[in-house]
Amino acid sequence: MNTAMNPLMNTAMDASLNASSTATRTVRAARTPWQRLTGATLLTALTAAGWLAFATPALADGNLLPRTPLKAYDAECTACHIAFPPALLPAGSWARLMGRLDNHYGSDAALDPKVTAEITAWLQREAGTGKRARSEPPEDRITRSAWFERKHDEVRADIWKRASIKSPANCAACHQGAERGDYDEDSVRIPR
Ligand code: HEC
Ligand code: HEC
Repeated sequence: MNTAMNPLMNTAMDASLNASSTATRTVRAARTPWQRLTGATLLTALTAAGWLAFATPALADGNLLPRTPLKAYDAECTACHIAFPPALLPAGSWARLMGRLDNHYGSDAALDPKVTAEITAWLQREAGTGKRARSEPPEDRITRSAWFERKHDEVRADIWKRASIKSPANCAACHQGAERGDYDEDSVRIPR
């Protein structure tokens, strides 16, 4: 997971670093005199550091929310599907997609030019740069990216076509937390 695109993860890592340096400081300061270090203080510090170290990898692949949300994106790009995480396509794909909204995967999703420009600029800032956005996928579809096909190779062709799913682009059908940017594999549930 690209750390730059995941503010929660950075926060957790910072917190984790702070917690361990606090723990180190506590131990160092306490060495002389030892009696000033209560067992409880040390235990609390160590527990906090341990919990954060454990929590960090869990967040790492789970949260794909944009760094700074944009009202216009949440309002205009969720009429027909969920707000796809900007981090899942590279900047070039978003630019092309935004340049032809009148011919958007068989739909007309054209917007006022000012709003289009605002969303386009924001998508350029929030676009993916990590392992999930190394190249521009066919049709500028997240669902045609190499990582997407790899991560979903256990989903059989007939499953995608179920009435409860309809399309691989219907992320929220299987990812219960998709609206919150949570695509963690632990919260996947494939509907019948
Ligand atoms: C009028 C309805 C509509 C609106 C509004 C709309 N879209 Fe879409 N979008 C679609 C349809 C239909 C698809 C194709 C879904 C499918 O293949 O199942 C799609 C697909 C996509 C995909 C590709 C999904 C994949 O297969 O990986 C992206 C990315 C996307 N839209 C982004 C946007 C953005 C950004 C906006 C706002 C500027 C937007 N959409 C607004 C109808 C819409
Ligand atoms: C048919 C159900 C289904 C749909 C629809 C679906 N996924 Fe998934 N997704 C899965 C399954 C199953 C996995 C693999 C879970 C595992 O490896 O245990 C997965 C894994 C992932 C992962 C990797 C999670 C991790 O922890 O490594 C990401 C990211 C992801 N999906 C994003 C998406 C996005 C974005 C969409 C929509 C564009 C989508 N998925 C649509 C079922 C689905």
